[in-house]
Amino acid sequence: MTTELGDLYQEVILEHSKAPRNFRRPASANHEAEGYNPLCGDRCSIYIDMDGDKINEIGFQGSGCAISRASASMMTQMVKGKTKGEAVQLFEQFHNLVTGKDEAAKADDLGKMAVFGGVSKFPARVKCATLAWHTLQSALEDEKKQEAVSTE
Ligand code: FES
Repeated sequence: MTTELGDLYQEVILEHSKAPRNFRRPASANHEAEGYNPLCGDRCSIYIDMDGDKINEIGFQGSGCAISRASASMMTQMVKGKTKGEAVQLFEQFHNLVTGKDEAAKADDLGKMAVFGGVSKFPARVKCATLAWHTLQSALEDEKKQEAVSTE
């Protein structure tokens, strides 16, 4: 593993990809969406139980690389209990971080997810890191959305 990849696959990313949190479909889910990454064909489904404007429960399923699984796992932990507006704002900060637009990207707000800052050096990996977030945004918008969203 090169040094760059060593930086990229930080311990926290590997740990979450091996044992993803909230890897399930909550029985109470009333919003859902499926996303896919056209570069590799990997898919990710997000399920949310919205209580008014609040994300009461959230889970995900799908197949993907270590980065996409870890990102989805950590995202579900981060947005659970947040409002729709807060979740959308976090996505904006995360997107700025992984695309290198804002390296500081309010790392305090993103907590452990700040480790994904390393993917900004690998454009193809940005799609892996944001797949779950794009799908989350779609799930928040619509109830039981049928069409898959893509990271494009
Ligand atoms: Fe498919 Fe990362 S390689 S989501």
